[in-house]
Amino acid sequence: MSLTINIYYTGKNGSAKEFVKEMLNSGLVDKIRNEEGNKKYEYFYPENDPETVLLIDRWENEEALDKHYKSPMMKEIAALREKYNLTMRVEQFKSLAKDNQDFETVIKTRTATRKFKDKLVEDEKINKILEAGRLAPTAKNLQPQKIYVAKSKEALEKIDKVSPCRYNAPTVLIVCSDKSIAWTKDNYSSFEMDACIVATHMMLEATNIGVDNIWVEMFDKVALKQELGLNDNIEPICLIPIGYKTDDCPVNPMHNKRKDLSETVKFI
Ligand SMILES: Cc1cc2nc3c(=O)[nH]c(=O)nc-3n(C[C@H](O)[C@H](O)[C@H](O)COP(=O)(O)O)c2cc1C
Repeated sequence: MSLTINIYYTGKNGSAKEFVKEMLNSGLVDKIRNEEGNKKYEYFYPENDPETVLLIDRWENEEALDKHYKSPMMKEIAALREKYNLTMRVEQFKSLAKDNQDFETVIKTRTATRKFKDKLVEDEKINKILEAGRLAPTAKNLQPQKIYVAKSKEALEKIDKVSPCRYNAPTVLIVCSDKSIAWTKDNYSSFEMDACIVATHMMLEATNIGVDNIWVEMFDKVALKQELGLNDNIEPICLIPIGYKTDDCPVNPMHNKRKDLSETVKFI
């Protein structure tokens, strides 16, 4: 849960903008951005009101915000506000939704989900996930990916025929790649690598917007091709079941078992 605070500073003869300049030049803004739990501290200039500046600051939780309020910086900010004779209007929002988290939170919290509720994934969210895949890099930008969004009862039944790993997800992204489009050189084709990058983008965006997911390799690719009537050149690469985990969904015990960097990295 994050907290967002909108503060409208209003003055006269451009004093609100002068206040912002001094906040920035004094290094106060940088210091606040470096405070623990600060996710955003930015000024905006509403077009319809040149005497007002809007500050949007976001904090990871109430504890972080409390700490900020108790920090010595608050006195400095108050003194500057008085210097420029500004009035202040404050709006505070609590966000329970997981949306647009910072990148580190996304990569740390993404985890394999193996028990989904029946709750459907909203079309708007599916589109955001697909859009993240669309923006993925591919070899020579050839974009060989073909994504089938399985939502209908019939499509989900087909998935269940070829894989034990849908875990009751109401939607499955079937990530495929068109070998006739992908970049090839000698005996190598980037079809699989391209599709994996697309799949990774989608998985991370799903986590970013609070949609649980899992990467599934365990499925019969030949059988799936037949079930979906795919052309020879279309290769299924992976399945990504997406949805919302149940309240009793077990934590994946593997999630925190990662090798030490010294085992997988060598500086040369
Ligand atoms: C290429 C790949 C294939 C996977 N295949 C399956 C699968 O078929 N079934 C399954 O339950 N989990 C599958 N997983 C999930 C992994 O087991 C899981 O990501 C891993 O244990 C790390 O846990 P975490 O994702 O929670 O961090 C797969 C993951 C990857 C990246």
